[in-house]
Amino acid sequence: MKVFAAPRDVENLKSQTLGILLFEGEKEVLECFSALSPGLLGQLDLERFRGKKESRLFRAEPGHSPSRILVVGLGPEEKADSDVFREGAALLVKAASAVGAEDLEIWTSRQPDQRLSQALAEGALLGGYRFDRYKEVPEEERGNVGVVYVAGGEESGLEKGALIACGQLLARDLANEPGNVINPLTLAEKAQEVAQQGNFECRVYDEKELEEMKMGLLLAVGQGSKTPPRLIHLVYRPREEPLGRIALVGKGITFDTGGLNIKPGEYMRTMKGDKTGAAVILGVFRGLARLCPPIEVHGLIGAAENAVGSRSYRPDDIVRGRKGKTVEIDNTDAEGRLTLADVLSFACELKPSVVIDIATLTGACAIALGPYTAGLFSNDDSLAEEILGASRRSGERFWRLPIDDDRLRKKLESPVADLVNTGGREGGALTAAMFLEAFLDKDIRWAHLDIAGVDNYKEPFGYYSKGASGYGARTLLEFLVSLGPEE
Ligand code: BES
Ligand code: MN
Ligand code: ZN
Repeated sequence: MKVFAAPRDVENLKSQTLGILLFEGEKEVLECFSALSPGLLGQLDLERFRGKKESRLFRAEPGHSPSRILVVGLGPEEKADSDVFREGAALLVKAASAVGAEDLEIWTSRQPDQRLSQALAEGALLGGYRFDRYKEVPEEERGNVGVVYVAGGEESGLEKGALIACGQLLARDLANEPGNVINPLTLAEKAQEVAQQGNFECRVYDEKELEEMKMGLLLAVGQGSKTPPRLIHLVYRPREEPLGRIALVGKGITFDTGGLNIKPGEYMRTMKGDKTGAAVILGVFRGLARLCPPIEVHGLIGAAENAVGSRSYRPDDIVRGRKGKTVEIDNTDAEGRLTLADVLSFACELKPSVVIDIATLTGACAIALGPYTAGLFSNDDSLAEEILGASRRSGERFWRLPIDDDRLRKKLESPVADLVNTGGREGGALTAAMFLEAFLDKDIRWAHLDIAGVDNYKEPFGYYSKGASGYGARTLLEFLVSLGPEE
């Protein structure tokens, strides 16, 4: 899909499908179009269309121009933040593709400045997404809005929005791929493709190299699978002298059976999504290629399949990681923190000023925050605030949870090793974050994003479709571009 700016000219619409975003009780935009569609105002009144949030109206105008009018309610104007417009644009695109439109022109009474244009572009692109590459869909049901015009849109905002959304769409695509397609080796190939397209350095370490690098924890998690683990390292370098160095780390469990502590069937379902952190990192890199912030960004992915087999690592095993610390395995299903521990140790050796990891880490986080808010943990208040600021701009909700509870931290003590890999059910998201913290250098500002529970949706809504959400890609890109000089 392409998104373009169009002149705000009622007489010369670019598309035969007009999409109107309407605030509650608003008449302004409708009045603009009353000459083109005399019945529109009256019909809206008849249907008691009041612009309530997410309400929709479709009107076919055969023989008229435009030939279709779609209206989506935004709710009250004073509550309309960027995300309301993002959702509105997505609902228009979904409605337009349902009626077979190939293009769409979006109108709203609020003049689209840079921020609003960005949100509309993001919503349109994300709303148009479907994962149907393995399914035969009849042409007429496919629904494909190829072009969206934003009336009065601001070019740089539309472009920024398109780049950020495309990053997130790549994350969705990768996360949606099943475990028989994406394994540690094919994930590394995908990373190399992203690197090639964006001109990034990319190095992939194989299992022998991981052995030499003493990445015992990543190796242990991956040893049960016939596809051995990989460490993927991408680097984005700006053209000018970088203003700083940041490392992003993604959990890349290509499928999580739970290992010998095998998951029951209903919990194993959707565990192809356990590589969403990695998918988000690759999506972020796709965005970086053209957003070009003036900082050096390292992307690190520990890719492994947590499989069941005679070579699987076991409960009771004691494993030494790259940092030298030993870990007693209590539960092989707490595998993400093990792979992340080794990759975080490696990340710190690159001497970045900031490390951010993103992971579908704990069911406990999903229980705590629900399916529409992700967890944020940090050892640095100002970093946490910066990420929450980016999250407010992106519309992806994050909520900070604590890691300073020293009594709870004791749950990670082991009688036989430096740490044990689980801290019990209560506060499970917190102890997982504390486990990660033990592998970080104290002087490095670090944040951990737990996206378990928001990585995947059973039903489409707003700008999400069924399946992978790519959650976090927009927030990380917003965060990274905000580190440059003010726009
Ligand atoms: N990948 C899961 C976490 C998860 C759960 C992600 C639900 C997405 C949706 C993780 O590896 C896991 O299994 N965590 C365990 C940890 C426990 C054994 C301490 C969990 O959350 O139950
Ligand atoms: Mn697990
Ligand atoms: Zn997992």
